Amino acid sequence: MTLGMNADRTLPGDWYPGTVPANVAIDDSAYVETAFSFLLFRGERADAVTIGHGASIYLGNMFDVGPQGRVVIGEYALVNGARIVCDASVTIGDYALVSWNVVLMDTYRVPVDVEARRAAVVRVPAMEPRRFAGDVPARPITIGRGAWIGFDCCVLPGVTIGDGAVVGARSVVTSDVAPFTIAAGNPARTIRRFTDEEMAHGR
Ligand SMILES: CC(C)(COP(=O)(O)OP(=O)(O)OC[C@H]1O[C@@H](n2cnc3c(N)ncnc32)[C@H](O)[C@@H]1OP(=O)(O)O)[C@@H](O)C(=O)NCCC(=O)NCCS
Repeated sequence: MTLGMNADRTLPGDWYPGTVPANVAIDDSAYVETAFSFLLFRGERADAVTIGHGASIYLGNMFDVGPQGRVVIGEYALVNGARIVCDASVTIGDYALVSWNVVLMDTYRVPVDVEARRAAVVRVPAMEPRRFAGDVPARPITIGRGAWIGFDCCVLPGVTIGDGAVVGARSVVTSDVAPFTIAAGNPARTIRRFTDEEMAHGR
C-alpha cells in the first residue's frame, strides 16, 4: 500500500482527481484514502489539519473544517469514515479508533433561534461556495489516546472522551466520558468502568 502524499499533493492511487489543501500536513507513514475527504474543507489556518505518524483515514471521511478550525489526528489513529465538523478544534488521540459513520461536531453550525436560522438560510444563494453558515459558537472536542468510538455515534460540541474510553454504537455523546469507562445510549451514560487489570493494559 502506498502512503503519504505525492509531490503535486494528489494521493497515491486516488480515484478522485483533487488535491490535498496546502495547509493539511500528512505524515509520510500515514494513509489517506482520497482527497475527496477535503471537498468541504475551508480551513485557513496554516496548521488546519495534521495527520500523524501511522494514522489511517479511510473512505467516507469528510474534513468539514471552517476557516478557524484545527484538526489533529494522532499517531496510529484510525478513522474509518467520520464526518468531522470543526470550527474550533477536534483532536483525535494516538491509537484512537473511530468507526464508520461517526459525526464529530464542535459546532452545530445552525442557530437555534428561528429568525437567525431563517437569515442564515436566506444568505445561502449568494454564497460561494454555496454552503450554509450560521454564526454559532464552537467548543473543542477531544478524543483520548486509545479511545474507541463505535459506529454511527454522534459526539457533540465541547465533549472530551477520556483516554482508553469506549463509546457504544449509535450513541449520542452530550457530555464528557471518563477515561477507561464504557458509555452508551442516547444520551450516552456510563455502562461500565474498566477493571484495574484492564486499565493497566491500556496505559
Ligand atoms: C460498547 C460495547 C463494546 C459494549 O459491549 P459490552 O461491554 O459487552 O456491553 P454489554 O453488551 O454487556 O452491555 C452492557 C449494557 O449496556 C447496554 N448497551 C451496550 N451497548 C449499547 C449501545 N451501543 N447502546 C445502548 N446500550 C448499550 C446493554 O444493553 C446492557 O444494558 P443492561 O445492563 O441494561 O442489559 C458494544 O455494545 C458496542 O456498542 N460495540 C460497538 C461495536 C462497533 O461499533 N464496532 C464497529 C467496528 S470498529
